[in-house]
Amino acid sequence: MSRPLPEWLKTAVFYEIYPQSFYDSNGDGIGDFQGIIEKLDYIRSLGCNALWINPCFDSPFKDAGYDVRDYMKTAARYGTNEDLYRLFDEAHARGIRVLLDLVPGHTSEEHAWFRESGRAAPNEYSGRYIWTDYWIRGIAGYPYIGGECERNGVYMLNFFKCQPALNYGFLNPKENWQNGTEDAAPLATREAVKDIMRFWLSHGCDGFRVDMAASLVKNDDEAKSGTCRVWRDLLTVLEDYPEAAVVAEWNDQERAICSAGFDMDFYLDWPGNGYNSLMRDYESRQDGEDHSYFRKDGKGDIGRFLADYLPKYEASRGSGYVSMLTCNHDTPRPSYRLDMRELKLAYAFLLTMPGVPFIYYGDEIGMRYLAGLPTKEGGYTRTGSRTPMQWDKSPNLGFSKGLSADLYLPVDTAEDAPTVEAQEQDPESLLNLVRRLTALRTQEEDLQADTPFEVLYDENGGRPFVYRRGQIVIAVNPAGREVALPLSMLTEKLRAAAGTSSETSYCFGESRILLQIGEGSVRQGQLRLGAQSFMVLGKKCFGKE
Ligand code: NOJ
Repeated sequence: MSRPLPEWLKTAVFYEIYPQSFYDSNGDGIGDFQGIIEKLDYIRSLGCNALWINPCFDSPFKDAGYDVRDYMKTAARYGTNEDLYRLFDEAHARGIRVLLDLVPGHTSEEHAWFRESGRAAPNEYSGRYIWTDYWIRGIAGYPYIGGECERNGVYMLNFFKCQPALNYGFLNPKENWQNGTEDAAPLATREAVKDIMRFWLSHGCDGFRVDMAASLVKNDDEAKSGTCRVWRDLLTVLEDYPEAAVVAEWNDQERAICSAGFDMDFYLDWPGNGYNSLMRDYESRQDGEDHSYFRKDGKGDIGRFLADYLPKYEASRGSGYVSMLTCNHDTPRPSYRLDMRELKLAYAFLLTMPGVPFIYYGDEIGMRYLAGLPTKEGGYTRTGSRTPMQWDKSPNLGFSKGLSADLYLPVDTAEDAPTVEAQEQDPESLLNLVRRLTALRTQEEDLQADTPFEVLYDENGGRPFVYRRGQIVIAVNPAGREVALPLSMLTEKLRAAAGTSSETSYCFGESRILLQIGEGSVRQGQLRLGAQSFMVLGKKCFGKE
């Protein structure tokens, strides 16, 4: 059923760009395609070989572009379609793939399809959205709007008021106005989405990040069987583009990858989930405390992450990839609660895990979440994570040569606002650590997407934590005090894992540390991990005694 995974994903490290805020090449205060082109060498220097660009299509921007008015036309503020094709070419010339953002669940209320759909007289688009058959007949369990159009019915929303839901049908239709998933109108919606995919793929894009991928079929069952079936059909488009890749915004790897056919699925920050427990465990707590694992003073333990992550990883292993992310345009930046040292440990962990990692622009320098900014383009509390990239100390922190008053969003005005320029000069900076980590991932196959992940030590409340990727052992101690682990405990576990192989015993040697943050050593039968430390122990640590 499923197509082979594109080979390049094995070594992929993605960079997410919110195009409004990355680099403004023409001084109008907002980022653009030419700006991205001018920074491609920087992106490559980070060790990233793939991009995901948030929606850059024609839109009234009531949800920052997730309200698409024309899927096949770029928003003028970023440039023309030709500029975007040139961006594909320039990226490819540097070994960088480009994923666009596909928004299949809804359009803008200003999309021509919706305008036609809302007319009283039946037409080609009458069934493109989900309408009831009477002006005050509502839709149980879903948000809807009445009184806006001449058509005698109300229509379903998928997210904001400006985003009517496209019609992929209902799993088990119960009302006359509901389509089944194989009815003509939902099938026409699918064909329209396939056309959009083919359009961009044929112009050089390398695939899609897919917005709200789980949202297509309504009244779907728990297994999302209707939505998964629709995806298996939509993704047949990729048969003609075997190198193209798709990542779902779904957060259910078993469904997204194994049932729907995506190559990757984001491990998103959901209240109380495993990802949340690593770096954001302040969001859903009533007690005001922060138990995030990577907080030095945190009370968090790695067990909560593992309990949630391992089933996701095991279920999708071999079929696709769990995508770890530093953050995205919907969440506070990790620097909101983690300081530079804590961020270093967190990123070192994220970038040594299996699957395909994503770095959100600016997270590589620890850009701040600017809390309290007035909402912009439907951002609300997300606005603080969408501010201009901080390049250097020149006006507007190098983001734009325009007037500060004209910027899409204000730049961080703090005296110590991190910049790329300053961090490039500091060998110990977060930026240079990210570069070292991506370089190590490129150099060591065991740190790439496929090599299995195995827990070696997660006792004592889960701080510290030791794991194995193939022949590489990785240890992290997020706490503010040193710990020492007997190597015998680790070798015991390694020996058990080696099973019947000839590799029966192991030696750890200090000289084989591939990467280190803080203090630490392997000596006298102990793995000693200093306060807030991280160690990657190379393959030569393994061998016959
Ligand atoms: C998820 C996107 O990440 C978010 O930014 C957007 O507002 C919603 N989907 C609606 O498209």
